[in-house]
Amino acid sequence: MADNDKALGRLRTGIDGLDNITSGGVPLNNQVLIAGGPGCGKTLLSMQIAYNSAKNGIPASFITLEETQAEVLENFKTAFSEFNDIDDLVSKKMLVLAGDETASKIQGGNDSQSYAFSSVLSDIEDILKINGSKCVVIDSISLLKLMLGDLLTYRKSMFALSTNMKRMGVTGFLTMELHSTNRQGMSFSPEFFIFDGTLIMYQNIEENKRVYGMEVLKMRGSDHSLSVAPYEITKRGFKVFTISDI
Ligand SMILES: Nc1ncnc2c1ncn2[C@@H]1O[C@H](COP(=O)(O)OP(=O)(O)OP(=O)(O)O)[C@@H](O)[C@H]1O
Ligand SMILES: [Mg+2]
Repeated sequence: MADNDKALGRLRTGIDGLDNITSGGVPLNNQVLIAGGPGCGKTLLSMQIAYNSAKNGIPASFITLEETQAEVLENFKTAFSEFNDIDDLVSKKMLVLAGDETASKIQGGNDSQSYAFSSVLSDIEDILKINGSKCVVIDSISLLKLMLGDLLTYRKSMFALSTNMKRMGVTGFLTMELHSTNRQGMSFSPEFFIFDGTLIMYQNIEENKRVYGMEVLKMRGSDHSLSVAPYEITKRGFKVFTISDI
């Protein structure tokens, strides 16, 4: 981590434009929800954050509970052909991809709750020990919601997840599915209150065309933009078009 980042106490996402709308990055130890509808780029964005972190010398982990590890890596390489050093970062364990085993245990059997949430937490802890990750992605927490059933248990578990990630000293990014792809249809979920930060990714319709936009709904301990910033997915990664309102 650059000395400057340490002084600021922030983890730079390294996403072009995103660090501008969060006043220089995510405060260290914050747990940030990345929420959006299908196909808005939650997996690619969070994977790019982990990749950028590893490339910047800060060990990272990407825990996938939806797609397989191989699929995530393949899709990332296809989308971002210029990030051709990713295999090197993975082989050096600067970037750890994990989650296949945990996901199959959650999904396996007739009673997914038999695989207790505490086991998921201890799996995460074990994964982070592999390279001493300081930047961690869980993609996504939506499977955990299905696993945990009732809302009270789920809410308590999400608090436990957030608290444990803080205890482990990591800055976390947790993706979550939203039913609506656009801003008009968005409703506030309990997760928006539980985690330290919430980044929402939209696909709004403008003149019969879908246009991507992202918004920092909240970021504890940080000033941030109040605007919806348009973004594009390019071969060189995400490009967020910032509006100077902070
Ligand atoms: N090579 C590419 N170039 C440009 N855009 C791409 C490319 N590959 C994928 N995309 C865009 O990224 C989207 C998929 O991104 P991603 O898988 O990260 O979305 P997601 O929000 O995680 O979706 P899901 O809700 O299914 O998990 C695609 O719908 C497509 O619009
Ligand atoms: Mg995804």
